[in-house]
Amino acid sequence: MNTLRTMSRDSKLPRLEMQMLWRHVLQVPRSWLIAHDTDPLANTAIVRFRELEARRLAGEPMAYIVGYREFMEYEFLVSPAVLIPRPETELLVETGLDYLKGKRSPRVLDLGTGSGAVAVSIALRCPGATVVATDLSSAALEVARTNARLLGAQVDFLQGGWYDALAGRKDFDLIVSNPPYIAAADSHLKEGDLRFEPVTALTDGSDGLSALRVIIEGAAGRLLAGGALFVEHGWDQSQDVRQLLQSTGFKRVASAPDLAGIDRVTGGIYN
Ligand SMILES: C[S@@+](CC[C@H](N)C(=O)[O-])C[C@H]1O[C@@H](n2cnc3c(N)ncnc32)[C@H](O)[C@@H]1O
Repeated sequence: MNTLRTMSRDSKLPRLEMQMLWRHVLQVPRSWLIAHDTDPLANTAIVRFRELEARRLAGEPMAYIVGYREFMEYEFLVSPAVLIPRPETELLVETGLDYLKGKRSPRVLDLGTGSGAVAVSIALRCPGATVVATDLSSAALEVARTNARLLGAQVDFLQGGWYDALAGRKDFDLIVSNPPYIAAADSHLKEGDLRFEPVTALTDGSDGLSALRVIIEGAAGRLLAGGALFVEHGWDQSQDVRQLLQSTGFKRVASAPDLAGIDRVTGGIYN
């Protein structure tokens, strides 16, 4: 007779990952797994677990297997059409929210929204804001729209390349973006979770700074006077990004460090 206890002795997965898969297969909370670890398991559940376990052992990200990832304490649906939201991107959201504090009905733009994690979180945390979000990928926008609906956020999603998607909309108080910033030649693209994520969400196909350049240079004509732009970037790009912002006319240019002390979000104010 197979039970959670006997199955866990056989599995090559770390305990926490195994529990996540069992919670997903049985659709139960973690506490249930602990209280029922000697109950007999149905064969269908065992077969399903084995399938998911094999996918995980082959390296597929857990978020794609279970279909969601937590971000800013919300559960976002994810599929292989979207980047899995990262903890470091919460710094981008928090920096944007800090800037919005005290503003009554700000207009916010999220460029390259993917799962919608940034735009939806800002819309939920700043209910007075009007939030527009764009992406080149219509498959990603489908996921983002679903997330906005399920989480009860009001976001206007537009499809197209960076500012082209806006079809002339401007006058934003805040623009945020986590664009693809990994250089095409970076070997990390062939490693770990990145192998499973959409390549157009990860790399600009060039030096890693080309999307950041377009976003920074284009922000000037879309921000209100005194508006802010904040972008996420790679661990070694903060100096380049600060320079780009300064040469485009941004003031009060500064970077914010992540929990590891590495500058990952940089922005400034446009006058
Ligand atoms: C790094 S992902 C960020 C996703 C999401 N904002 C997040 O932080 O989890 C970059 C996103 O930019 C989108 N993208 C790539 N090239 C683009 C372009 N030229 N115009 C608009 N969006 C683009 C990708 O489809 C992807 O969803």
